[in-house]
Amino acid sequence: MSRQRLYINIDHVATVRQARRVSYPDPVAAAQACEAAGADGITAHLREDRRHMQDADIVALAAVLRTPFNLEIANTPEMIALACRLRPHQVTLVPERREEVTTEGGLDLGRDPDGLRRALAALREAGIRTALFIDPDVAQIDRAAALGVAAIELHTGTYCHHPADAVALGALQQAAIEGAARGLAIHAGHGLTLDNVAPVAAIPTCEELNIGHAIIADALFHGLPDAVRRMRAAMDAARVGLTDEPRPPR
Ligand code: PXP
Repeated sequence: MSRQRLYINIDHVATVRQARRVSYPDPVAAAQACEAAGADGITAHLREDRRHMQDADIVALAAVLRTPFNLEIANTPEMIALACRLRPHQVTLVPERREEVTTEGGLDLGRDPDGLRRALAALREAGIRTALFIDPDVAQIDRAAALGVAAIELHTGTYCHHPADAVALGALQQAAIEGAARGLAIHAGHGLTLDNVAPVAAIPTCEELNIGHAIIADALFHGLPDAVRRMRAAMDAARVGLTDEPRPPR
């Protein structure tokens, strides 16, 4: 079986904390619990409006994590400067709109390519692995390849809203093939749950999943370590029979 990395997004631990503006639950402690339960990496999104993760959380995560830290940020001068200062293992650039409930849709790489190029160059110079969160769309994949990123994270939201729709899943499968053919590492995420993860986990060239909300929600009933292990088991079960090892992170 070829193993796929599970990066756990811990934003929604901070969502619970920020609902009361208190000091608990601590997303950094949650990240460490996820690591202890077998997470391959930790993902956190520092939003411009600081609705869940706070700057101090990101500083602490960058200092204490033992597994790779994937920082999700919008391409703004403030966020790029912060990333270059903290040097997480990986930065995934995502679109951000203040009024959205969560990230809606992938980046449009045709908009402001020069700004993207500058941001990616700064991140790379700081030694950070770069990824772009995009919809499963060939034109976007071509643009990502031209920008020279290490990875694309395919937005799984449409599939997760319509898991029975073969077109939505087919778009992800095809995008993973097209991206890998262009030398891009393939990640995926957004909206994945125990119930819908299997077909995405089974995409052979997909080497990393970023999953948050469903695991934190499952933790209410099963505890965080068990919620992590359940997702890990669902991913592993979906990959039985796949033999090609995904490439290690570049
Ligand atoms: N990947 C990206 C780029 C995201 O923005 C998010 C949500 O912050 C996720 C993955 C995780 O999505 P979910 O919390 O729905 O699992």
